Amino acid sequence: MTDFISFPPDFNWGVAASAYQIEGAWNEDGKGPSVWDTFSHLTGKTHHDDTGDVAIDHYHRWKEDIQVMKSLGLKTYRFSIAWPRICPDGQPSKINQPGLDFYDRLVDELLANGIQPMPTLFHYDLPQVLQDQGGFANRDTACYFSDYAGIVASKLGDRISSWLTINEPMVFAANGHLSGEHAPGIKDIQAAIAVVHFQLLGHGLAVQAIRSAARRPVSVGIALNLSSVDPASSSPEDVEAARLFDCMQNRSTLDPIFRGKYPEDLLGLIGLLLPAMEPNDLAIISTPIDLLGINYYSRSVIKSEPGVPFVEFAPVLPPGNAYSQMWEIYPRGMYDILTRIHQDYHPAQILITENGIPVADALDLDGKVRDVRRIQYLQDHLIQVKNAMNDGVPVSGYFVWSLMDNFEWAFGYQMRFGLVYVDFDNLQRTVKISGEWYRRVIASHGFTPQTFYVEPDL
Ligand code: FCB
Repeated sequence: MTDFISFPPDFNWGVAASAYQIEGAWNEDGKGPSVWDTFSHLTGKTHHDDTGDVAIDHYHRWKEDIQVMKSLGLKTYRFSIAWPRICPDGQPSKINQPGLDFYDRLVDELLANGIQPMPTLFHYDLPQVLQDQGGFANRDTACYFSDYAGIVASKLGDRISSWLTINEPMVFAANGHLSGEHAPGIKDIQAAIAVVHFQLLGHGLAVQAIRSAARRPVSVGIALNLSSVDPASSSPEDVEAARLFDCMQNRSTLDPIFRGKYPEDLLGLIGLLLPAMEPNDLAIISTPIDLLGINYYSRSVIKSEPGVPFVEFAPVLPPGNAYSQMWEIYPRGMYDILTRIHQDYHPAQILITENGIPVADALDLDGKVRDVRRIQYLQDHLIQVKNAMNDGVPVSGYFVWSLMDNFEWAFGYQMRFGLVYVDFDNLQRTVKISGEWYRRVIASHGFTPQTFYVEPDL
């Protein structure tokens, strides 16, 4: 008989979502365009040229969506605030009141239903006007971000106790400014590096701005996409390649935030490309945070590849392993990254701010969505979270990405990550069996592991 895996009674069970992926209403109530509006309106940038113009219409269905959250027993809802709803032309001096009011109502309704709101202030949807002035490659954007953070915190800080500044600065920099697969669709390594630095600067400034505007003690942090990294073989070349990849993927943001410096090996590689810094930048970036959000989906397996310019490494997909539509499925990496972050950086509190899997879900004849593979994924990752907690890692919460199927960036509506199925034609919501499972886990503070899905051995 397998033992019950139990979580503390005050464990923070939640779900995560982001504004552009769910809200729609892209040009309503005074909202300005974001880089994602511009990008998705170009041809050939997203699967089927999908856009977030309507998305899943959360902007109009937020009350209904909160009832779904309540029915699942969620403790916290992690959402993001669309910066261009608050500052349509980027300038913090001109606030769009209807935009702020939307989040004001959302927060009140969440609280009235017993759900804690946890906003992220920037989740890829930069106001287009700021992009026109260089975006996050321009130092001024860090200051505008902090002003905007202060505006939101002075409005909502009396009711919100946990804040995240930025979601995945590395992804916005790399996908948006290096590969160009995400908005704003730039391919320029120097811009990408500046975008990392000035987002981190914006983060540090925003931590301070939120604390002072909230006028009471609040927890502030950042959500980083971190992956455990393994070399493809034990050859010294592969081990070195994996070390360098880890430096770029993980340490490049963790070191400045927790240690106030960029890693030496990173500086050796890209130092000459760094933007002009001011003497206090790293002190601001390393302003102590109360919590670290980790978005974990998969690990990275890296081999040496001398033909690849500059970095000389490449990812590999180990054969014979399990894969989703987007990544290798590797629950053990959750334990590896948690224990490693705890050992190397000692964050006071860790939240898994995102974890989830895309599944090709469909409604069965009886109207149910039997996403057993998602349940297996979530269960197997939660077991690793618990193992890390047993080994002393201070994990205080876990957020499934995502509550509802939504717009998955360049993949458009092709990838379904939700605990709730959304019919993209009529936008009707149906709780999947993974949602029912999560409801039971939350209600009983854990689960007895079961086999829900077995990978076919073909
Ligand atoms: C993360 C993003 C989130 C979503 C998931 C699948 O990197 O933060 O918006 O796209 O991946």
